[in-house]
Amino acid sequence: MSDDDKVNTGHNIENKELIKNARKPVGELGHQILDRMNKSHENMAQWGVSHFDIEEDDLILDIGCGGGRNLERFATQIITGKVIGIDYSEVSVEKSSKLNSEAISEGKVEVIQGSVSEMPFEDNTFDIITGFETIYFWPDFINDLKEVNRVLKKGGLVFFCNEAVYREGKMEKYDDLVELLDMKIYSEDVLKESLEKTGFNDFKAYLEEENDWICITARKS
Ligand SMILES: C[S@@+](CC[C@H](N)C(=O)[O-])C[C@H]1O[C@@H](n2cnc3c(N)ncnc32)[C@H](O)[C@@H]1O
Repeated sequence: MSDDDKVNTGHNIENKELIKNARKPVGELGHQILDRMNKSHENMAQWGVSHFDIEEDDLILDIGCGGGRNLERFATQIITGKVIGIDYSEVSVEKSSKLNSEAISEGKVEVIQGSVSEMPFEDNTFDIITGFETIYFWPDFINDLKEVNRVLKKGGLVFFCNEAVYREGKMEKYDDLVELLDMKIYSEDVLKESLEKTGFNDFKAYLEEENDWICITARKS
């Protein structure tokens, strides 16, 4: 899911069988793509997380946690808080758990297998909910955002970060990738509208022009 993986070049997707695993990592290729994404998403993730603050007692949920690099990052920023990762891929859960094994044994991190569409958490649980490179694959964006809203505390922060953003007339380069991964690439306007429709306010969008990255934040109303 990055230039490093040669997937943004549209007609030149290399190693389709590997790249297909970005949607739901499985088996050996799943392990391989998660190793790659932990590295290839790092610059974007560092840029993205610079747009919000974490308190030492925050309870943070990372949806679609993949290889678990962002769980590892957040675990260094909390003291009494906790970081939970959820992902519907068994391989992602395995990888995230392995990378964060020490923090898991300290009770700082927990990794759960499950879908964004039906999360095993009480209402109003989390201070911060994040999703890096994952919303493209959510099966029903509006209902899934309602589920995110349900488990977020009132006033809590939602954050999404994507390295692909919809721009009218400029989407041809993504055609092959969109078909291969059956993914949806959202515009800033659709993200704003969808979040406002599902119980969020204070929408902010940040664009990184050089790489065309987008990250957004909003709060539960
Ligand atoms: C492209 S990877 C990104 C992984 C990681 N967040 C990163 O930035 O490197 C997408 C991840 O989202 C997960 N995912 C996709 N749809 C999901 C859903 N409906 N519920 C839970 N996880 C999902 C996939 O299994 C995969 O691990």
